[in-house]
Amino acid sequence: MDSDSIFKRLTIKSTLKPFDCDDSDLNDFFYNDALDFLKQLLAVTYVLENKKETIAYFSILNDKIDNRNPETKKRISKPLEKLLPHPKRLRSFPAVKIGRLAVHTDYKYNKIGTKLIDWIKVSFTIKNKTGCRFITADAYKASLGFYEKNGFKYLTDKDKNKETRLMYLDLFPFRKS
Ligand SMILES: CC(C)(COP(=O)(O)OP(=O)(O)OC[C@H]1O[C@@H](n2cnc3c(N)ncnc32)[C@H](O)[C@@H]1OP(=O)(O)O)[C@@H](O)C(=O)NCCC(=O)NCCS
Repeated sequence: MDSDSIFKRLTIKSTLKPFDCDDSDLNDFFYNDALDFLKQLLAVTYVLENKKETIAYFSILNDKIDNRNPETKKRISKPLEKLLPHPKRLRSFPAVKIGRLAVHTDYKYNKIGTKLIDWIKVSFTIKNKTGCRFITADAYKASLGFYEKNGFKYLTDKDKNKETRLMYLDLFPFRKS
């Protein structure tokens, strides 16, 4: 990461600096949708940028993991049975979704994506104002390895052959109290 880089939350008045991650959907969201989503309170986007360009960005929004379908119960509630009195009775678990996360092509494989995930972990555990137990992500096929390396697991097998897969990370190990 350059020494002159800054990390900030976009505002609706922000000027977007050039960005290219080699994925047209992710580039397009950044240029055309990120500020509208912010304005409509649908997602908040954070950027890492230097004087010249955008190094990385991610958009996050509130989410929940539905605890009523049998597959989720098996993967989410069962392991929690020893920790929570009645986890199966909970209809859902609060979560934060990574809607989009992308690193500029020139900066990939420098642990920038990992650092952004680490920031989300801290922000939604020790710094969070509400309860949030999981991070979720609709991960692109090409980025599954990245999410796996960051501890994410698959929520279902039903999307095994799809272009994106639903993944989750339990935030419990990252709390400090
Ligand atoms: C996927 C992406 C966000 C990863 O960011 P990054 O900063 O390059 O990743 P990191 O350097 O933090 O990588 C962490 C680990 O994941 C691995 N990794 C990174 N991208 C990977 C990929 N696409 N497939 C498999 N493994 C990957 C790295 O090798 C590294 O492994 P290591 O700990 O053994 O060294 C970035 O490559 C990107 O923007 N890709 C295009 C857009 C995209 O697919 N975004 C996700 C959509 S939700």
